[in-house]
Parts: sequence; C-alpha cells; structure tokens
Amino acid sequence: MDSIVVTGNGPLHGQIPIAGAKNTCLKLMCAALMSDAPVTLTNVPRLSDVLTLSQLLESLGCTVTLSDEGRELTLHAPEITNRKAHYDIVRKLRASFNVLGPLLGRTGEAIVSLPGGCAIGARKVDLHLMALEKLGAEIELREGYVHARAPGGLTGTEIEFPMVSVGATENALCAAVVAKGRTVLRNVAKEPDTVALAHCLSAMGAKIEGAGTDTMEIEGVASLSGVRHAVIPDRIELGTYMIVPAIAGGEVELLGGERRLVGALIDKLEEAGVTVEDTDAGLKVSRGSNRVRAVDVVTAPFPGFPTDLQAQMMALMCTAEGSSVLEETIFENRFMHAPELIRMGAEIDVHGGTATVKGVGRLKGAPVMATDLRASVSLILAGLAAEGETVVNRVYHLDRGYERLEDKLSAVGAKVERIRT
Ligand code: UD1
Repeated sequence: MDSIVVTGNGPLHGQIPIAGAKNTCLKLMCAALMSDAPVTLTNVPRLSDVLTLSQLLESLGCTVTLSDEGRELTLHAPEITNRKAHYDIVRKLRASFNVLGPLLGRTGEAIVSLPGGCAIGARKVDLHLMALEKLGAEIELREGYVHARAPGGLTGTEIEFPMVSVGATENALCAAVVAKGRTVLRNVAKEPDTVALAHCLSAMGAKIEGAGTDTMEIEGVASLSGVRHAVIPDRIELGTYMIVPAIAGGEVELLGGERRLVGALIDKLEEAGVTVEDTDAGLKVSRGSNRVRAVDVVTAPFPGFPTDLQAQMMALMCTAEGSSVLEETIFENRFMHAPELIRMGAEIDVHGGTATVKGVGRLKGAPVMATDLRASVSLILAGLAAEGETVVNRVYHLDRGYERLEDKLSAVGAKVERIRT
C-alpha cells in the first residue's frame, strides 16, 4: 500500500487547479442511467471512485467511454440489461447506492445492495427508502439487498424529510422526475452537488423548481433525453487546498475556485486571520508570519460548515493561537484523525461529537495512519506545518477523492512524495 511522505518546509506559493467535484460527478453518472441517449460529462475528476462507479454502471448495461485524458465521460444506457447493483461494488463506494432512484424510475425495478456502515458512522438509508415508498415503490429488504418494485410506475406525492440528507434527496429527486404527476420534496439538501444534479436533470428534460431552496417541486415527465454537461468545481478539494497556505503560510491561488461554494469556510478562515481574495482565475488565500487565531466550528448541512472539511479545519486549529471547539453534527464517528494528530503533538480532547483543540503552534512529524478520505488529507495538511517528516500510511483513501495530490502540492513548493510499496 502506498504511503505519502510530507516534510514541513515553510511558506508555500503558487497556483493549484481545482478539479471537477467528485460528489457531483458520481450522482450525474447515476442519473445517466435514466436516459436511453448518451450523457456526456465534462470536467470529470480523475479519481478511483469514478472508475469504480463506471464498473457498476457497465454491469447494468451502460457503456462508459472516457476521453480527453479522462476529463470527459460518455455514458450510454440504451437498455438496462441488469437491475442488480452488487454488494462488491456498493460496499466500496456508498455513492453507488444512488443508482436506486434512477433504476427504479426508468425500469420500475431495482435491486441494490445495502451499503453498510463505514468508518465515519452508521450512515443509514431509511430516508432513501421512505421517500421511494411514498412515491409508490414496494420495498423489501432481503439478504442484504433492497428490492424495490413499482410495476405500474411511480406516482408523485408530497414528502417531508425529517432531517436533511444529501443522498436521500438525490435518490428521491431522480425517481420523482419520471413519476406520474407532481411531487413536492420538503427539507431537501441544498448542497451544490444536489443543485448541480437538478440542473443536469433539467437539461435532460426534467421539470424541477426550487433546487437550492428547502423545497423542490417536480412535475413528472415520461422520459429524459441525453445531455452534455459540465461538472462543477469540487468545493471540498477547493476548501482543502485553501487550508494549505493557512496552515503552512504563504499565498496560493486556487484556479477555478468559487466563493459561493465555500462561503462558510471563508468566514472561518477570515475570522482566524487568513486573507481570501477573489481573482480573475479563482480565489487567492494568504497568510503572513502571524499564527492563525483559534475559531469554533459547527458542521451543518450547506450552506453551513461542511463535515467534509472538519478534519482539515481541525489540523489548522492544532497550529492556532488559543483553543477552539469543533462540533460535528452530521456523522457520529468523525474524529478518527484526532488520535493521529495527537501523535504529531496536537492537544485534542474529544467528548462525543465535540473536540476541543488547544493550539500548539508547530506540530511534529510522525508516522500516522489514514482512516478515511478527509481524515487522510488532514494528516497531509498537518504534515505541511510540522517539523520533520510525516509518513501518512494507507493513502488509497486519498486517491478516491484527490487527483494528483502530491503533484498539486509539489507545484506550490511543498515537499511531498509518494512511496510505492
Ligand atoms: C454526502 C456526501 C458526503 C458528505 C455528506 C454530508 C456524497 C457521495 N457524499 O453523503 O461526502 O459528508 O453528504 O454532507 O455525496 N442519514 C440517515 N438516514 C438516511 C440518510 C442519511 O439517518 O437515510 C443520516 C446519515 O447517517 C448522516 C446524515 O443523515 O448522519 C447526513 O447524511 P447524508 O446527507 O445522507 O450523507 P450522504 O449522502 O451519505
């Protein structure tokens, strides 16, 4: 398994291009199953998750063609030849549970493996199933699989989600766009990925109003056409690299970065004493020789502070002046980076969903273990601000979500090397 070796070497300067959003791309790929015409996605990130989902879509009868050096993906499912999404793939990639709504909507039947828990929490799917049942699907759970059937098709209805779920909103949306009549979805996710999915479906002929607000109204259509659609920039990759100059010092321009995608992070960085400016090409983030100030963070659904940036923010707070409190409200077990940061000299107390971080200034390099995608990258960030060498093991998690991470960091002057073992 590969490792990444990071040696803290002071302020970093330069530019980092931001790739297309993983979480948007994966959901658009699932939605491609809903049309019998080709769906071409551009600005596709080159990530192992995209390849894993491609394999699943191929097993369902979709041809997947990569072009433009992996930046463009054409998905074409003239016919769905198999309605079963196998455990082997769904367990590796939770987002593949989002073939459920598209398969059911298009064919009236879907058999999709339950994804199971993962390192950051139980991650139930009850809200996905509740919404599809309300749309008229009969759902049975057998041998670890969700069997969903709607032989006469789905029917529009009103659904109120008891809590905001990105994945459940997206599965319900895909099913509703081809249901008979009108569907109202209340308390839906407003994440840019969900809004991007709604825009892509609309470009395929769906009738959706209210994307980006708490309520979406959908008028069902009989079928969807093909489309050529660009994936939006990855706000989590963007946010992660915005923390690079904040933690290491220096000035980095994030090419393609958009303020609207990372508003909550910008507020916190500015409060901590980091400068964020708009440029013609994106966003420029800088910090001089001052230490960042401690700031408190509570994760929340968009437009709140993203849970997917909590680990990276914790790494930054380890180096801050003063103590900060980080509260995780989305996932119940998302502080696994804390013990690893403590191995690097951080002072962190975790109680339930709250972590109190006492800034220590300089961290110390150490061998550490990556436990999930965002935890892994927080250890790399910590390494950039540490004295000596940090070896991050089990980096396959990183390749799921960050393309060419070591190249992008090296380009701004960081000492980052991948050791292939
Ligand atoms: C998506 C993102 C993930 C991000 C998360 C929250 C993708 C591929 N992944 O995950 O990176 O961290 O949004 O922004 O887009 N829940 C239930 N029942 C359900 C569904 C969810 O209880 O049926 C709970 C979850 O356990 C969690 C919370 O709701 O505690 C939010 O989860 P959700 O928004 O569904 O996250 P995902 O869509 O899995």
